[in-house]
Amino acid sequence: MPQVSMTVNGKSATGEVEGRTLLSTFLRENLNLTGTHIGCDTSQCGACTVHVDGKQVKSCTMLALEAEGAEIATIEGQAAEDGTLNAIQQAFQDHHGLQCGFCTPGMVMAAASLLKENPKPSEAEVRHHLEGNLCRCTGYHNIVKAIMAASGQDVSAIAAE
Ligand code: FES
Ligand code: FES
Repeated sequence: MPQVSMTVNGKSATGEVEGRTLLSTFLRENLNLTGTHIGCDTSQCGACTVHVDGKQVKSCTMLALEAEGAEIATIEGQAAEDGTLNAIQQAFQDHHGLQCGFCTPGMVMAAASLLKENPKPSEAEVRHHLEGNLCRCTGYHNIVKAIMAASGQDVSAIAAE
């Protein structure tokens, strides 16, 4: 089987894959990074969102072999080594931006990408950015609020849901 090598959360990772192996499968099954969730495998839900060379990508839309030599960031690399949550993760906790948590890794990775490009997004911009990430629990309201809070904006005027 072909071998693939990439950097994942700052560490080099190598594994044998089939040509059809998806990046999402490689992360979960070869590297045991199961924080990248698979909700659909058909690029609908966004639960598998990671960053590839700094860009937000649904990892079920890419073959593992296509990530040869790439820098991958997953949810496991977002908190500090001692487990301290990053600002986005903390805001999700503070503003109840999750219920079952299935969509959360993808939401956090999508949010990180948005805030990198647009450090102070409006509510409409946050909602637009999250169009490819589905959540069946929260109604999105608290997710949007958490992302705006993580960007340092006052969210007290946004009503709780
Ligand atoms: S598992 Fe990749 S978009 Fe749903
Ligand atoms: S918190 Fe359950 S799917 Fe989003």
